[in-house]
Amino acid sequence: MEHTPERPLRVAILISGRGSNMQALVDAVMADHLPVRVCTVLANRADAAGLDWARAKGLQAECLSHRDFDSRDAFDAALRARLDALAPDVILLAGFMRVLGHDFVRHFNGRIINIHPSLLPAFPGLHTHQQALAQGVQWHGCTVHFVTPVLDHGPIIAQGAIPVLASDTPDSLAARLLPVEHQVYVQVLRWLAEGRVTLKDDGRVQVAGVDHRAWAGDTLFE
Ligand code: GRF
Repeated sequence: MEHTPERPLRVAILISGRGSNMQALVDAVMADHLPVRVCTVLANRADAAGLDWARAKGLQAECLSHRDFDSRDAFDAALRARLDALAPDVILLAGFMRVLGHDFVRHFNGRIINIHPSLLPAFPGLHTHQQALAQGVQWHGCTVHFVTPVLDHGPIIAQGAIPVLASDTPDSLAARLLPVEHQVYVQVLRWLAEGRVTLKDDGRVQVAGVDHRAWAGDTLFE
């Protein structure tokens, strides 16, 4: 369904830290008047810097600390209840550093999207820039994908790639990749708002009318 200002795409953005991806998404929504309503920016840490930024933009921003719960399941259940109350169409994970349990993922099946700083299926998990350098790959990148119960795995919506330089360190790679992450995630949000993104029965993603879903640097490959 193509969303309109009257029927906006309802989005919950989950963060754990600085939230630069969240900021890029929110800035695009505001600057380009996308038919998107950010119903919450939710962090699992009260000190997530992104919360203050979101509040300053007038968004609903809240903390649900995993430390307040005895178990992973209890946290997931509270998060699920909170999100159900907001009825988001999609949940965008933007540097959200908690692993979500199978029941949670199944409950929101096909509605959770993540950005991961590697060209999946290479380098799931943490320290992706270090992993890329250790393996000597010549291209590194980011992936926006639907979340499945398997960590950092799932149908790929779009990817952005950057070359790895001989002089790169994990920090320099991360810094060069970050603006690409923002570009790719914002484009995916646009496609979602336009109702173009479909998860097909074969487990792959189709974006209607779009042939290229690969960025070289911050330019959509043509
Ligand atoms: C990004 O590199 C994202 O891909 C990863 O965690 C980082 C979060 O950065 N999942 P930010 O909080 O969006 O600035």
